[in-house]
Amino acid sequence: MQYKAIKLVKRPNPDITADIFATVHLPLPALDEGQFLVRQTHMSLDPAMRTWLDEYDDSYLPPVQLGETMRAFGVGEVVESRNPDFPVGARVLGTTGWAEYVLGSADMRVVPQELPVGDLLGALHLPGLTAYLGLMEIGRPKAGETLVVTGAAGSVGSLVGQIGKAEGLRVVGFAGSDEKCAWLEQELGFDKAINYRAADLAAELAAAAPNGVDLFFENTGGPVQEVVFQQMNRLGRIIVCGVIADYNKHTPSPGPNWKEVNLKALRVEGFVVPDHFDKIDRMSKALLGYLQQGQLCYRLHTIKGLESAIDGINMLFDGRNQGKLVVEL
Ligand SMILES: NC(=O)c1ccc[n+]([C@@H]2O[C@H](COP(=O)([O-])OP(=O)(O)OC[C@H]3O[C@@H](n4cnc5c(N)ncnc54)[C@H](OP(=O)(O)O)[C@@H]3O)[C@@H](O)[C@H]2O)c1
Repeated sequence: MQYKAIKLVKRPNPDITADIFATVHLPLPALDEGQFLVRQTHMSLDPAMRTWLDEYDDSYLPPVQLGETMRAFGVGEVVESRNPDFPVGARVLGTTGWAEYVLGSADMRVVPQELPVGDLLGALHLPGLTAYLGLMEIGRPKAGETLVVTGAAGSVGSLVGQIGKAEGLRVVGFAGSDEKCAWLEQELGFDKAINYRAADLAAELAAAAPNGVDLFFENTGGPVQEVVFQQMNRLGRIIVCGVIADYNKHTPSPGPNWKEVNLKALRVEGFVVPDHFDKIDRMSKALLGYLQQGQLCYRLHTIKGLESAIDGINMLFDGRNQGKLVVEL
């Protein structure tokens, strides 16, 4: 029997175009002792994938090499096994790849059959861990403070804002459409959501955050970055989670000047989740708590078929995704 996989065959220059990938048909592998075979059912598409495509050796993960199957996280079912910890029929979550079948990877773990895919790939996995780690462990908020989050309607940003509300913060989000802003205010309880395509962002933010900004959870970069930076309060924290506006650029935009960082005694801290795997149990427990108390809602945006990933990944860069983007295989 053969299965489909998608390999990286070219580096993006700088946009992700269909010709950088090639679909191949491969025979199912024979298993060695300790191995297991997973039929992937759902695959997560994440902005980080763009950063894995460049030849950049200083990142937290090595780049995907030309000729390799594109890397992903996903959920699947064990269909063949020579490993008693991963019996046939078990549902697993972890690093997979753009492929219908994958060999079990070192970070895979068995997960409950009954959990919705959105909980597994969204609220409890990378987006949830990112939101919790960035806001709670790095931002260290105090009730009553004002939090601004960019990319607010995305899978990370929407969870950041909701955790912020659960922790007693005033929450202002920036998102790219009126529909997304309405969802943030009406369904998720953001105090204010601002369409970053609006004319006078500085005035909109000043009205939404009359006491200034204590916490800035940065997911996007772009022009809104400077606007929020200028309205930071003394001793504010800037949590640099991602700069999606710069991922498809040969030369990233210049950042703000250090004078404000100095005089306002701001703390600016970047982070990536893989550096914090030692905290995963604690963070997962906290996320489950918010989820069980109905404090975390999310939207799942599902596209179908392995090859839908090739165009689908670009939905993250033009804002077509409405919530956590997942490929159903
Ligand atoms: N540090 C970590 O460990 C870690 C882990 C996961 C994710 N991240 C980062 O977190 C950020 C959000 O990731 P996500 O998974 O939650 O993705 P997402 O927000 O669900 O999807 C990406 C969204 O970014 C917005 N966007 C795209 N291009 C933009 C631009 N030029 N300017 C402003 N907004 C733009 C779009 O929404 P609009 O319609 O609002 O434009 C799009 O829907 C990314 O930067 C990602 O790299 C970091």
